[in-house]
Amino acid sequence: MNNKILSCVLFLAGLVSTNYQSRADDARPLKSVVESAFSFAEKQSLLMAEKYKDQVGRLPRTYEKGKDISSDSRWWCSGFFPGSLWYIYENKRNQDILKYAELYTDRVEREKYTTDNHDVGFMIYCSFGNGYRLTKNKKYEEVMLTAAKSLSTRYKPQVGLIRSWDHNKENWQYPVIIDNIMNLELLLWASDYSGDEKFKQIALSHADKTIQHHFRPDYSSYHVVSYDTISGIPHLKQTHQGFSDESSWSRGQAWGLYGYTYLYRETKDQRYLQQAKNIANYLVNHPHMPEDYIPYWDYNSPDIPNTYRDVSAATLMASALIELSEFVDKSLAQKYMQVVETQIRTLSTPAYTAKLGENGCFILKHSVGSYPAKSEVDVPLTYADYYYLEALSRLKKKI
Ligand code: GLY
Repeated sequence: MNNKILSCVLFLAGLVSTNYQSRADDARPLKSVVESAFSFAEKQSLLMAEKYKDQVGRLPRTYEKGKDISSDSRWWCSGFFPGSLWYIYENKRNQDILKYAELYTDRVEREKYTTDNHDVGFMIYCSFGNGYRLTKNKKYEEVMLTAAKSLSTRYKPQVGLIRSWDHNKENWQYPVIIDNIMNLELLLWASDYSGDEKFKQIALSHADKTIQHHFRPDYSSYHVVSYDTISGIPHLKQTHQGFSDESSWSRGQAWGLYGYTYLYRETKDQRYLQQAKNIANYLVNHPHMPEDYIPYWDYNSPDIPNTYRDVSAATLMASALIELSEFVDKSLAQKYMQVVETQIRTLSTPAYTAKLGENGCFILKHSVGSYPAKSEVDVPLTYADYYYLEALSRLKKKI
């Protein structure tokens, strides 16, 4: 075999090996799967917490080519590891986990002043928000309220949405990404907490305009919509992390599902419930959804099935579907929970769950940050772990 053919064979073998068809055949009740997953997460996350405890200001980001990669609090994911520790603490009541949850949450505090991007919601609500939910620590209230004020500065009434990014990569005038739907939960909390309706008005205006402009007739969503700052109507609809402008980037679809589910929980507005159900229907019945319900990184990748799964899209979807199942009729709820059970059982097998001390001490393997940018492809990511733990936590309450 000449070298060219050999490298082609190796390349294809590498791709095929990313197709983790690992339907879980674990006969244990789901409750035991959830309990074991929490026990493993507790041990693995303690190792992670110990690894970074003396590296002042650092937080885990990923693990790539055998190397730990960390970030400071500026990275959009800084709140997820502290948030994961809070979920583990909630379910295991381990005092060391509590100590580390507080330590790593404090490392994110400066982001309450973030006004140069929309990610302040992710950073502060996943860390301080969970900490506040569990401890009612008064200090956390101030951090969250300051963060909500910072996020609100990015709202422009002429457009009616919060601006996601300040850079103008593709001639964007006012880029809004579907991910931004996740940041509104902080504003809804701030409105309830402070009594200031302004936060809620911003959140709901953003949610409504996103329904209007971000979704296609089949309820898939664009990644980036850029608005004309004078007319307030979209002038570009594109992708940044997906396969193409018209494709369905998997994590983006899951952000939308999660977003409209909590928007319904918080407002009881039927339009949000309908939107969440429509997105769920699109995803659950998608012809390119694998039978283990761990999505490929983009539903329209031309390389399916020989391309990467995105575990972060699966964990987000699982967590959202558990909540959505509370709001729909029995047969739909059963359908959603069958999907969730398949996802959780699959993710909890060695095909996706790391071994103790391996995988840079992350829990899950095989996520994709940005395939087009060749960044964080087939690696562990903090948010995949975070939404897995949230899903486990929701599941534990339900069963
Ligand atoms: N919010 C960025 C991402 O989902 O990759």
